[in-house]
Parts: sequence; C-alpha cells; structure tokens
Amino acid sequence: MILQGKKILKQYRHNGGVINALDQVSFTVQKGDFVTVTGPSGSGKSTLLLALFGLIRLTSGNIIFDGKRIDNISDRKLTDIRKKSVGYILQSFALIPYLTTIQNVMIPLALEKILHKEQVKRASEILDYIGLSDRMDHLPRELSAGQQQRVAIARSIIHRPQIIMADEPTGNLDPTLSLEILEFLKKINQENKITIMMVTHSPVAAGYGTMKLHLNEGKIIGS
Ligand SMILES: Nc1ncnc2c1ncn2[C@@H]1O[C@H](COP(=O)(O)OP(=O)(O)OP(=O)(O)O)[C@@H](O)[C@H]1O
Ligand SMILES: [Mg+2]
Repeated sequence: MILQGKKILKQYRHNGGVINALDQVSFTVQKGDFVTVTGPSGSGKSTLLLALFGLIRLTSGNIIFDGKRIDNISDRKLTDIRKKSVGYILQSFALIPYLTTIQNVMIPLALEKILHKEQVKRASEILDYIGLSDRMDHLPRELSAGQQQRVAIARSIIHRPQIIMADEPTGNLDPTLSLEILEFLKKINQENKITIMMVTHSPVAAGYGTMKLHLNEGKIIGS
C-alpha cells in the first residue's frame, strides 16, 4: 500500500452555504497502480488530487502515504514530501514561458539544490527518453501542444517521484497526441513502478486504469 484515504471530508464554504466536495471518501492505492479518477464535472476529482498531498487541507479524515499519516503534518513537511515524492501534471501545462525545454525540466532538481552539472545530465537523459533531445533549447511557445505536455511530464518525473498526480493530462490534446501521452505514462508506470493517479473525462484514458475510482457528488460510487 502506498496511499490510503480514510473517510475524507472536504467542505467548501460558499455564500453562507456548505458544499461537500468530498464526502467520506475512502480508498487504498497499491504501489505501481495506475489509478483513474472519473466522474461528472463538479464531482470532486480535482479537489481529491489537490487534497491528497496538502495543496488544500481536509475538513476531516486521514491520509496515509508510505506508512505515515500526512493529513496532520506541517505545511513545511508537506512541501518536502511533494518536492521529493510527488510529480504533478496539470491540464494547463504550466511551463515557464521564458525558460527553455531543458530549463523547465530541471526546475524540480534546482529546487532540491542539486549541482547544475547533474541537473543538465539528468534532464538530457529524460528528454532523450521522451524523444525531445532535439528540442532542448526551444521555448514552450516554439513547441507543439503534445511536445509541451511531454516536457511537463518530464518535469514531473525528473526527481524520481513515487507517485504522479495528473489532472486531465490529455484534456487539450487531439486523439493521436492523447494516446502518445497515455502510452508514455503507461511506460513509466510499468518500467519505473511509479504509481499514477490520473483524473480524466475520456473513456479511452480511463481504460488505462488498473484501479478505478469513480466519483459522484463527492462520493466514491465504484472502484
Ligand atoms: N474553492 C472553492 N470554493 C467553493 N467551492 C468549490 C471550490 N473549489 C471547488 N468547489 C466546488 O466543489 C465541487 C468539486 O469541484 P472539483 O473542482 O473538485 O470538481 P471536478 O470533479 O474536478 O470537476 P471538473 O470535471 O469540472 O474539473 C464543485 O461543486 C465545485 O463547485
Ligand atoms: Mg477538475
């Protein structure tokens, strides 16, 4: 077991009312699972992804990662866990526009204060692995959408996280590029035993799941 949620409740207060975005959500993810999170718009998928490693705080419930509770630890410790163990891929690629491909990919290593030479070595290896070694010095605007998404994935895996959290990583891409990204995620999942948790609206993408969480109005209704 790598990640477990127990009776997660996340309430948002809005205009005097309360929204149960996550309502008693419990689940267990095993190391190496490819988890797909599906459900209608507003069912709590993004909230779940953001809440698991403390980007938003729970109202109640527990989260256990790698054998330790992480719902009750300090922001500083959570930041350390995110930097070391979690890779995020978000729908808007969130590449820094004035940094080149390789500079964008090196960001997580720079945050860990790894030597520049080592950063360049590891980023070059990973760009080679995802087929972008001939685009290292391009700026994001000089890349296609699928290439930008691959850079974002390279950045999310370069620090060798234990788990990748992806919110609709193929949301803006055409079917061919989507498949390319999905196959790539499957490859790093299988070859490197990186656990993946992926929110998606696409039935094709959901087909990649080895474990499926389906949300409706903040509740898990199938897995
Ligand atoms: N900051 C917030 N304040 C108040 N309500 C919020 C906030 N963020 C989300 N919500 C509400 O919580 C519910 C769950 O939102 P969430 O973003 O998790 O849905 P989702 O399943 O990711 O939807 P989509 O598929 O459209 O991305 C929605 O009803 C949303 O309106
Ligand atoms: Mg969402």
